[in-house]
Amino acid sequence: MIMTKKKLYLETHGCQMNVHDSEKAISILAESGYEATADPLDADLVLLNTCMVREKAARKVYTRIADIRNQLREVTPTRQLPLFGVMGCVAQSEAERLFERSRDVRLVIGTQSVGRLPELVGQIESGFPRAIDVRLTRDAEFVDLDAGARQTPHVAFVTITEGCNKFCSFCIVPFTRGRERSRRADNIVEETRALAREGYLEVHLLGQNVNSYGLSGRFHGSFPREGTPLPAAGEGEITFARLLDRVARESGLPRIKYTTSYPRDFDEEVLRVMDSHENLCEWIHLPAQSGSDRILRAMRRGYTAREYLAKIEAIRASQRDYAITGDIIVGFPGETEEDFARTLELVATTRYDGLYIFNYSPRPRTPAAAYEDSVPEPVKAERFLRLQELQRRVQKERYERYLDRTVEVLVEGRSARSAADLTGHTRTQKVVNFPGDPELIGRLVRVRITRANPNSLYGTLIRESL
Ligand code: SAH
Ligand code: F3S
Repeated sequence: MIMTKKKLYLETHGCQMNVHDSEKAISILAESGYEATADPLDADLVLLNTCMVREKAARKVYTRIADIRNQLREVTPTRQLPLFGVMGCVAQSEAERLFERSRDVRLVIGTQSVGRLPELVGQIESGFPRAIDVRLTRDAEFVDLDAGARQTPHVAFVTITEGCNKFCSFCIVPFTRGRERSRRADNIVEETRALAREGYLEVHLLGQNVNSYGLSGRFHGSFPREGTPLPAAGEGEITFARLLDRVARESGLPRIKYTTSYPRDFDEEVLRVMDSHENLCEWIHLPAQSGSDRILRAMRRGYTAREYLAKIEAIRASQRDYAITGDIIVGFPGETEEDFARTLELVATTRYDGLYIFNYSPRPRTPAAAYEDSVPEPVKAERFLRLQELQRRVQKERYERYLDRTVEVLVEGRSARSAADLTGHTRTQKVVNFPGDPELIGRLVRVRITRANPNSLYGTLIRESL
């Protein structure tokens, strides 16, 4: 009997963690006979993987679903509608409300339930009108992903922690992704080894706050697939620094990156480990959020500007030339001109290679959403532009340092701008474009930088380096 495959259309919004969750969903659903399609009109199952950390995404989900449905009605009026499902933060946060507010949504998958997708889809296939799992538990397991099931061809993501216990007052992540859990080191190391065997040259270790890896003292293994025994309990204490050391030694990968570091927990031990392994890339993403101690306190970040800058100094004083990137929120409730001036100072002192600037916007259930004294939108917008302008000046100098230098680039594809150019990233996470043969895609090469643009570098190929 020939089984026709069912088609899955999955749309991903938001951060790398969402992208990675989508890969997990695709891989898991492949086991239930679904194959991915890029055309929503061709799909039996339409999943929207959503993010609401930095945007008001819930409304977007409803609009997007209505769009797809209307398009379908127009193009193939007689065709049965696909099964619509929502996953990610919006699913976690809206839960049953999604059913109430959209009659099309029949499946809601919380952030810890991706591993249960086949079961939930199965419930609907066997006649249930709706299926939902938005449980958040301290013991949720991790979904292991086979190297061959990756959706990203050159850079692979590997989860090391999920959830967050920090409860920064502006942030919805602890509510949408639950308490922090650390994945067993053996599972992580094994996954990175498998990726290296598969030919991957770069891996990003992912966690909301990688530095607290292992600190909860509990480790979790794989999400139990049907018929597999539950994994053994965790293997005891291991810190992020030791995990990095193990991955650097045991994975066989030439390039290892990780995000995100948390300033208070980022320590000398991590720096020492980074200094001592060539394959740990020279890039540290260390979000400050603000340069004002008053605002940092209101944000519940647990450090002062001076303490943050001391970490930056330690990084600059270490043996390797690291690129530091960060996040800043402008217009947090109560932020005065004086507070903002401290942020400008911190950014000028740190000299980031890249900075993500966000206008503060209240997120449901977070403490800051109830804070009074909100900053008027035009003031936020004006501060945003001032900070952007400062960063643009700093960044220009940071990028110009690369002129006439030769850098290692992982070639990831053709440049979107010019057909003759290839594009990739440096070890310090900068985009480099250069003319070259598409045969080089997927390889590490050495490029001499001839031009520094505001957000990218341009150069000429010297040679393949591996
Ligand atoms: N530790 C996480 C942070 C998640 S949120 C990580 O791994 O990246 C990513 C960034 O979004 C934060 O650093 C913050 O700068 C921004 N952000 C979070 N909540 C926000 C809000 N309510 N308004 C504006 N920006 C926000
Ligand atoms: Fe959010 Fe703060 Fe955790 S920004 S993800 S609560 S470290």
